[in-house]
Amino acid sequence: MCLYVKDLRLSFSDKEILKGISSKFGKGINLIFGDSGSGKSTLLKAMCFLLKFNGEIAFKGSRVDERWIKKHCKLVRQSGFYTEDTIVETVKKPFEFKYNRDKIFDEKKLSELLNFFGLGKFSVNDRVEKLSGGELQRLALIRALLLEPEVLLADEPTSNLDEGMSLKVYEFLKEFCRDRVCIVVSHEQYSKGFADRVYYLKDGVLNG
Ligand SMILES: Nc1ncnc2c1ncn2[C@@H]1O[C@H](COP(=O)(O)OP(=O)(O)OP(=O)(O)O)[C@@H](O)[C@H]1O
Ligand SMILES: [Mg+2]
Repeated sequence: MCLYVKDLRLSFSDKEILKGISSKFGKGINLIFGDSGSGKSTLLKAMCFLLKFNGEIAFKGSRVDERWIKKHCKLVRQSGFYTEDTIVETVKKPFEFKYNRDKIFDEKKLSELLNFFGLGKFSVNDRVEKLSGGELQRLALIRALLLEPEVLLADEPTSNLDEGMSLKVYEFLKEFCRDRVCIVVSHEQYSKGFADRVYYLKDGVLNG
């Protein structure tokens, strides 16, 4: 089980940020490191078709299109999200999207994940605006996990967490991604201990 990116190129105005990325991401945790501004978030957004790019994405040897990605790939964004909804409304919303219609929302699983990630003190009917930055970051991850995507992309998912909670997140992802492809952008050296592969983005090129 592999996700392939072939000669992915992306420019903003006249500046080429991604200069022909060709990489293979196998199952497990694929970590991407790189300087701030090197294009890590841009790469993940392009892989989810949130940005226009040139190049190809393939899964298990076959080229995939935007529709396939929307159904099977979930991105946890670096910037998180803002909503006035409750916790349960927020995590249920993606299940209403047409490409997620075959997925079933599991409220028990939500409670388990909230407890596991230290959010058990909240009721699912609490408003998301009550959550701190790190709590919101964990909720964004939980929202993606509940969809059980084949490919999980997480952009610095532990940047607002203390080390103990960050380790818990990586331990969880390690197990979750035993049979999935997970690509995680990280700045934290300790995350390498959980990685199946490590890549570096520099000068628009990804080396692994
Ligand atoms: N929508 C945009 N329009 C123009 N330039 C952009 C846009 N998004 C990102 N950039 C530029 O592209 C470059 C790469 O940005 P990106 O957010 O991918 O970096 P990053 O590696 O994720 O950095 P960080 O570690 O700080 O999150 C930066 O120079 C940024 O200013
Ligand atoms: Mg970024």
